[in-house]
Amino acid sequence: MPNTTSPTYEHIDVNSPVLSPKAMEYVTDCMKTGWISSAGPYVSRFEHAFAAYIGVGHAVTTTSGTAALHLAVASLGIGPGDEVIMPDLTIISCPFSVMYTGATPVFVDVDPVTYTIDPGRIEEKITKRTRAIMVVHLYGHPCDMDPIMTLAKNYGLAVIEDAAEAHGARYKGKRVGSIGTVGIFSFYANKIVTSGEGGMVVTNTVRLAKRAALLKNLAHSPHRRFWHEHVGFNYRMTNVSAAIGLAQLESIEEYIAKKKWMAREYETALRSIPRLVLPPQQPWADSVCWMYALTLTKDAPMSKNEVRNRLKIHGIDTRDFFYPLHTQPILGQFINKHDRYPVSSAASRTGFYIPSGLAITSRQIHAVARALGDILA
Ligand SMILES: Cc1ncc(COP(=O)(O)O)c(C=O)c1O
Repeated sequence: MPNTTSPTYEHIDVNSPVLSPKAMEYVTDCMKTGWISSAGPYVSRFEHAFAAYIGVGHAVTTTSGTAALHLAVASLGIGPGDEVIMPDLTIISCPFSVMYTGATPVFVDVDPVTYTIDPGRIEEKITKRTRAIMVVHLYGHPCDMDPIMTLAKNYGLAVIEDAAEAHGARYKGKRVGSIGTVGIFSFYANKIVTSGEGGMVVTNTVRLAKRAALLKNLAHSPHRRFWHEHVGFNYRMTNVSAAIGLAQLESIEEYIAKKKWMAREYETALRSIPRLVLPPQQPWADSVCWMYALTLTKDAPMSKNEVRNRLKIHGIDTRDFFYPLHTQPILGQFINKHDRYPVSSAASRTGFYIPSGLAITSRQIHAVARALGDILA
């Protein structure tokens, strides 16, 4: 009798988190003491420790990376009539954070190597209404900040660094998030530092930090509680989330080392597979390799979806790149029909990322590489 049973594969998640034993200890402390709202000591401990780690003067906790982006834009006083430039290949949180304030997002194509905003394409999008450039350090790899900072200086623009995916990454020795006017991070469960859900605004400007702290807490007047001179939001992080975030931050070097090890293992295992483009490592960047992102070359024998479906049959979970912003139905109102975004379109068409969680093992990495080799051989 022929053997008709198909092989069974171990399921390999795209991103399983690792929680430090300290997280359990700190959360238990919150439960025992009853400090479960935002009025607990872990919130300011997390803010101080995070500011020190990134190398900035101030850090303000929020409920998510998206809330942090909104606070950053709102704290800069950006509103109706203003424009904010951003890469075409990013999460919807970037344009949404601008739209929440009534301002207009403007999209720029991305660099063909790093898929982060192409500094050479920014100037053509600057108008009299431009107030800020929002950059995104994609998949843990920094974008090229020097030309962006120079442009911002020349035109008097703010720079918002979205470092949601790049905790601890460095650009020419400086931690991302600390280079622009204001930076943001996400602490969603798949991030290098997690608090379950959560975010942080970081800056060296006292005025911006104070503004973000005011707006995130319903804009209670600092002089009179329940008295309001501005429209605020409730973006307060709980003490329980901050307890998890602080514990995870205390292990950040171990987590970054694990991500870099994973990237080295994948590189060795994948570099001889034809038609696969491996993630970039620019000489000026110290990437934290948050996600191992691949693209297929033009002559690949099958589509990205076909590769992903075949990996799925092997039990291997993958994720798509973002859809380019210029293709999003909700953003159609901001698109000029003559604009073209060839690099982000191609990256989105051919890009996906493979299992990259902190819990990944050497065996799993080699199983993924073997499957990719078989599929693309
Ligand atoms: C680049 C980028 N910016 C912002 C965010 C938003 O963060 P959050 O999911 O915490 O709202 C994400 C989410 O993962 C992201 O990848």
